[in-house]
Amino acid sequence: MHILVTGGTGYIGSHTCVELLASGYRVTVIDNLSNSKQEALHRVSEITGCELDFVRTDLRDRAVLEALFRDRDFDAVVHFAGLKAVGESTQIPLEYYENNIGGTLTLCKAMTEARVKKIVFSSSATVYGDPASVPIREDFPICPTNPYGRSKRFIEEILQDLYRSDGAWNIVLLRYFNPVGAHRSGRIGEDPDGIPNNLLPFIAQVAIGKLPRLRVFGDDYATPDGTGVRDYIHVTDLARGHLKALEKLATDPGVVTYNLGTGRGYSVLEMVRAFEQTSGRSIPFEIVGRRLGDIAICYADPTLARTELDWTTDFGIEEMIRDTWRWQSRNPEGYE
Ligand code: NAD
Ligand code: UFG
Repeated sequence: MHILVTGGTGYIGSHTCVELLASGYRVTVIDNLSNSKQEALHRVSEITGCELDFVRTDLRDRAVLEALFRDRDFDAVVHFAGLKAVGESTQIPLEYYENNIGGTLTLCKAMTEARVKKIVFSSSATVYGDPASVPIREDFPICPTNPYGRSKRFIEEILQDLYRSDGAWNIVLLRYFNPVGAHRSGRIGEDPDGIPNNLLPFIAQVAIGKLPRLRVFGDDYATPDGTGVRDYIHVTDLARGHLKALEKLATDPGVVTYNLGTGRGYSVLEMVRAFEQTSGRSIPFEIVGRRLGDIAICYADPTLARTELDWTTDFGIEEMIRDTWRWQSRNPEGYE
């Protein structure tokens, strides 16, 4: 099976390439390197002992995409490529819609022409907005609160329309909760540009001394310790979910949607304490005001993925933090 992985040099994409190659898939990656480094793929090859093809291109370059689908015999596409920073999406919404939706349209047109009609799409728990209750099931209302989240919602709907127009399509929509951690080798991991937005990369940079202290965004939420609760999931467990999704595509499911989370939430302060224990470093922090757009609590009901994909998570919070710390301490400058 030959899989086209869009955005495959990125954080989740590179970890998914490891699992695909290790399971015997052929892999071609396309990426414009707008938020990643090609070095990640060299390390993917080093970890797996397998080669993969890389084509540097923007997903919106229709000519390149059409040529690619003409020249190669893809069986399915795993589609990660997109912009993903919630805050930035409120500043430059048009870029987000153009990149995320425009890229997906070009991809789907090229797939249609080449009659490759199997796709796994990276959606996000952010499509649920502020849920009325937790755990969150796939049939909960969809009401994203920012342009990034709306780009995910629109793409989900576009893919559903595509299936309605042509029942030969098979589509798996995966709604990720909070991906963290790194490959256990310490060779690939998350390499954010500049100051990280997300909690665990930020804590890791405090632990290594690159940042002075963590700012905890609010301790007055209706949660046990007042800080925000999230469903953190090890990126390797998440990557394995994509292999299960590809297996599902082979059963002709139409359009199906799954939460990929652990079903367990941790607060910001629980994450700080767990990181201190695992790394042996202290994490200075201060409580500041809430971050605009944040919600109190978000965790998945992963039952559907367990029953229909036969997917469960192997790693708990200790492994997530251990592997984040191994990656951060061995690669203080990321892939540089
Ligand atoms: P990432 O930024 O590390 O990877 C995305 C990759 O896509 C990057 O390598 C980037 O260079 C590439 N890219 C972006 N626009 C492109 C374009 N037009 N053409 C070609 N390549 C392009 O992000 P990630 O964390 O690996 O996320 C992967 C996917 O999962 C994204 O779609 C993201 O929205 C989604 N997601 C991520 C999270 C998270 O917290 N990391 C949570 C939910 C969903
Ligand atoms: N937090 C801090 N300080 C920081 C960073 C985060 O206190 O410096 C807190 C947040 O307030 C929140 C928790 O840590 O309570 C997690 O925040 P993240 O930014 O790591 O993650 P979010 O849940 O806000 O968002 C992430 C991704 C989104 C995705 C969403 C849903 O960034 O792209 O998960 O899965 F949509």
